[in-house]
Amino acid sequence: MTLELITNIGQLVTNVPSSAADADAAGTAADAAVRASESGARQDVARLGILHDAAVLIEDGLIVWVGAAGDVPSADLVIDQLTDAQGSSVIPGFVDSHSHIIFGGDRSAEFEARMSGQKYSAGGIRSTVAATREATDEELRSRTRGFLDEMLAQGTTTVEIKSGYGLSLDAETRLVRLAAEVTPEVTFLGAHVVPTEFAGRADDYVDLVVGEMLTACAPHARWIDVFCETGAFTVEQSRRILTAGAARGLGVRVHASQLGPGEGVALAVELDAASVDHCTYLSDDDVAALADSNTVATLLPGVEFSTRQPYPDARRLLDAGATVALASDCNPGSSFTSSMPFCVAVAVRDMGMTPAEALWAATAGGAAALRRTDVGVIEVGARADLTRLSADSYVHLAYRPGVPLVHTVWKDGVSTSVAR
Ligand code: NIG
Ligand code: FE
Repeated sequence: MTLELITNIGQLVTNVPSSAADADAAGTAADAAVRASESGARQDVARLGILHDAAVLIEDGLIVWVGAAGDVPSADLVIDQLTDAQGSSVIPGFVDSHSHIIFGGDRSAEFEARMSGQKYSAGGIRSTVAATREATDEELRSRTRGFLDEMLAQGTTTVEIKSGYGLSLDAETRLVRLAAEVTPEVTFLGAHVVPTEFAGRADDYVDLVVGEMLTACAPHARWIDVFCETGAFTVEQSRRILTAGAARGLGVRVHASQLGPGEGVALAVELDAASVDHCTYLSDDDVAALADSNTVATLLPGVEFSTRQPYPDARRLLDAGATVALASDCNPGSSFTSSMPFCVAVAVRDMGMTPAEALWAATAGGAAALRRTDVGVIEVGARADLTRLSADSYVHLAYRPGVPLVHTVWKDGVSTSVAR
């Protein structure tokens, strides 16, 4: 048993609104923004459950106490490690609920062509499929671990990883198996696009996905996903794939409305998907359906940034009452960023989110998109996944775009120092 006390936290974002209310009731220092929010002025900030001059106790990878620094129950405890946060801001580790970080090859030439005017299309996925099939297990492993290190250094402590660059029985099975070595959040995306060898025979490929491929991949995965979009899979094919996955006990996620409007969002809500991702082109009915559902709308700002597409309208979703998450979609084609701080900054600048809404979406929102209650929050019993910033406020994540603000990251209570 080891006990770590992180104290002198100037601003602690818990994502538990009652924490701030309790601290106030106990007469500890809650800031003006939180007080204002309790009177109704700033609900977005209230939702962050901010504590000031706070401390957190970690024992064996879990949070065992959270509160005012002056109230630490230290008399009865032997603290193995005392960490002084020097008045800075500590937030929950980012929960990146959408990534494709197992792949081979490089598509920088495609990106360069796009930045000279070429349009993004789903077809580019196939070039990564060819390179991924050629890569050895060791090459894929070492690259994926490199991305995970990169993510951790940017404050991300939970990462979902999709297959989808294998698209054959053996290649997809290999990808979910490798993903399961590094995360419990593995998504089987055999239905990413129709592979070249099934050109013109999409339904035969769907037979394979819902048959042998699902049987082989389901034991390694928690989720099933499908790219429901023109150029990928129709809504009928998508329903068949997702329903088959759900019957095997997999949770449902959907890629939809990335390149144009479609029926993928309605399908996701119909199937009680945990999340529908992209949501760039939404009808009023889509927005109303999401607001009235348990399906999180996961927005991926890196995609629109890297494909020069219009950004999704987060404000419209939030105002309607939908739950919004932000994720990186890190992949070699449409969004080759692993940075959640970058996604937060773009969401604030270009998608109508406030800094508080964007931070919530990148932490608690990601947890909701993965139907997890043990991450994305700083409360007793949650995993000790925290990120200390080199700043006294989370607002700096959007206020100082592109600046490496992550100082220290704790994942399952183990800290990694990032600060230069
Ligand atoms: O989420 N939309 C489908 N899949 C990825 C893109 C993959 C690629 O272009 O390689 C996405 O954007
Ligand atoms: Fe994706």
